[in-house]
Amino acid sequence: MSDSSNSTNNDTESNELHLDDIEIEDLRKRVSEKWNTYPADVLPAWVAEMDFPLASPIRKILSTALDGDDLGYPIGLRATGLPDVFSERMENRYGWKTDSRMADVITDVVQGLYVSIEVLTEPGDGIIVQTPIYPPFLNAVKDTKRRLVENRLLNTDEGWRIDFDALRASIDDRTRMILLCNPHNPTARVFTEAELTELGAIACEHDLVIVSDEVHADLTFDGRKHIPIATLSPEIAERTLTITSATKAFNIPGLRCAIAHFGSKRLQQAYHSIPRHIRGGVGLLGIYATQAAWQQSQPWLDEVRAYLETNRNIVADFVAERLPNIKHHKCEATYLAWLDCTEANLSGSPASHILETQRLALNEGRTFGADFNQFTRLNFATSKRILAEALERIEKATQST
Ligand SMILES: Cc1ncc(COP(=O)(O)O)c(C=O)c1O
Repeated sequence: MSDSSNSTNNDTESNELHLDDIEIEDLRKRVSEKWNTYPADVLPAWVAEMDFPLASPIRKILSTALDGDDLGYPIGLRATGLPDVFSERMENRYGWKTDSRMADVITDVVQGLYVSIEVLTEPGDGIIVQTPIYPPFLNAVKDTKRRLVENRLLNTDEGWRIDFDALRASIDDRTRMILLCNPHNPTARVFTEAELTELGAIACEHDLVIVSDEVHADLTFDGRKHIPIATLSPEIAERTLTITSATKAFNIPGLRCAIAHFGSKRLQQAYHSIPRHIRGGVGLLGIYATQAAWQQSQPWLDEVRAYLETNRNIVADFVAERLPNIKHHKCEATYLAWLDCTEANLSGSPASHILETQRLALNEGRTFGADFNQFTRLNFATSKRILAEALERIEKATQST
């Protein structure tokens, strides 16, 4: 069953987004990172921002704040109602019943990863990460002087899979935590109930905390259901800190607002051991835009996700038909395609070769883990026309090694 059937009753806005008509000249006026890092002759398809227009309820709430000169401090974070909106959303979409008092509003997902590591582990402790992985996971372990325990995903004919034997073998008496990314960036896997149950059982057996980044949960394809790992059993839940936000699915990452949900008081108290002002503050606009996203913008998300699913197919078909030296497993979620260019023999790294020869900016594979120098990541959250241009540039780049 498609989880779009779980739309909340508060969905009030329907959209006609005309996503095919996005103009590159308009995108180039943006000041955010994706469109404002490279020179104007470069087509950017890298950092995870979408090229789509905002959901109208989000635009409305932001415009109302600006029109009313209403940019003061937010009231107490709990009093804003956002933790309750989070609980409502998790129950409606994922059948996950949470106590909103166990949910904190935090600045952003990556901040949540760093704070969790700081308060729940010690320098030198082992932290398990499934690579390839969204680069801040690696930086979070390194920057906090913890030990990276790399559990490489297996690249099988069916797609990327968790190597449970290697995972078990990697655990020693100083291993304390698993940093889970589900849905997984960059492989775009949606881990199954069986996989998550096995991972959870290992965590319980070895007394590991699970920090689960579920920021891509709303972007699954083919009717796949995202399963919050904290829903699997009380034993798993009590050792799980889940971090999520509306920023990825609703394309508002510049507004800086996320939620950390604690599976037990122990986790929450540990998190609060770092004073709030060191953890940082959340702005008014992020809070209310997140509420507008989760309560009123489901029709927008349904339309965008359907568009992304078609783009996902376009990427997979193009790679299969036109890029014989590039390997790719069709994305199960996200809008990020992970491309294995090992057999393409591109000079330097694939991303640098493609940038230099075709002026297309992708992500460098090596930033996702030491063994992934010959991979690159493509962001396909754009119009079909711009995506076609990006894919053609990749094709030309593979012809000019
Ligand atoms: C898996 C994952 N986690 C976190 C983030 C960033 O979240 P935030 O901007 O809230 O730190 C991203 C952004 O692409 C991501 O892909």
